[in-house]
Amino acid sequence: MQAPANRVFSGVQPTGNLHLGNYLGAIRHFVGLQETHECLYCVVDMHAITVWQDPKELADNTREVTAAYIAAGIDPEKHVIFNQSKVSAHAELAWVLNCVARIGWLNRMTQFKEKAGKHRENASVGLYDYPVLMAADILTYRATHVPVGDDQKQHLELARDIAQKFNNDFLGEDEAFFPLPEPLIMGPATRVMSLRDGTKKMSKSDPSDMSRITLTDTSDEIAKKIKKAKTDPEPLPETLEALKERPEADNLVGIYAALANMDKAAVLAEFGGQGFGAFKPALADLATEKLGPLTGEMAKLRADPGFLDQVLAKGGEKASAIADPILQEVRRIVGFI
Ligand code: TYM
Repeated sequence: MQAPANRVFSGVQPTGNLHLGNYLGAIRHFVGLQETHECLYCVVDMHAITVWQDPKELADNTREVTAAYIAAGIDPEKHVIFNQSKVSAHAELAWVLNCVARIGWLNRMTQFKEKAGKHRENASVGLYDYPVLMAADILTYRATHVPVGDDQKQHLELARDIAQKFNNDFLGEDEAFFPLPEPLIMGPATRVMSLRDGTKKMSKSDPSDMSRITLTDTSDEIAKKIKKAKTDPEPLPETLEALKERPEADNLVGIYAALANMDKAAVLAEFGGQGFGAFKPALADLATEKLGPLTGEMAKLRADPGFLDQVLAKGGEKASAIADPILQEVRRIVGFI
């Protein structure tokens, strides 16, 4: 069975509050890869339920991510947009990979430690096993490249370890059924931070709505959040070296750079020496200019849930057609008759 040379897979959880970090760190890069790769973009609803979700909200949020994919410019005709639960191969492969992955590997996952916090004994088994399902998502399609934000790096390393161990355990040193997926962590905003605290990641679950710009915010809301964003009293520095010491300034400069398709050095060349009184309004204008069309298009798409459901249904069929022969081969390799 021929392995694909250039297949992209990535996913976003439908847990609501889709934000600027999801867009600049991931979804925006999904769009560009369509030119050069065969792409599968998944709404990972099975990952979402590792923490309890209201069933009606889960369905709405699944449509929200689908709308964001399409509004950002992913073409569901040429590529594949689907939700994970439509393709049972993910769960089936996850079971096989559960028997390959080691408990010691999962115990090192920092995201589980952060998410479970002090209530570890009370976290779902699914939350602990989450990274194995994520490896299964990618390997179900033998994907070669995975565009993600910086926070998913450790999970991608685990997916590579699992793929490697599967290959070694079942096929020996020289044969590789699963490719080792390459993370693609791209651009100046791989880790967008909270607008309230430059040392914390912008996240869907932060209790403060002021900490994030969401993909449903109006221009006024965006401007207000940027105006109120935490900063220090100094003017913007001239050098990247000096920016490193100032997390909040670094974050806003990174956001500006990503939205303007510049690098951070170019932003400092333009704004270095100026105060936030000048920089924040410029950032707010840029953000509303760039995000306005996206949020407008998302709102239009969300008004037609029937269309979005149809996209997911068709995408699920296309994804299954790729996954089924791969799973058939996995069953044979493992010795299932
Ligand atoms: P999720 O839903 O948390 O986030 C979706 C994507 O957005 C990126 N991201 C960020 N990028 C920059 N700055 C931030 N503050 C920020 N917050 C989130 C994430 O890195 C991600 O790329 N486990 C994944 C979903 C997943 C997946 C997969 C991804 C499931 N299976 C297989 C790739 C391949 C997650 O929870 O993403």
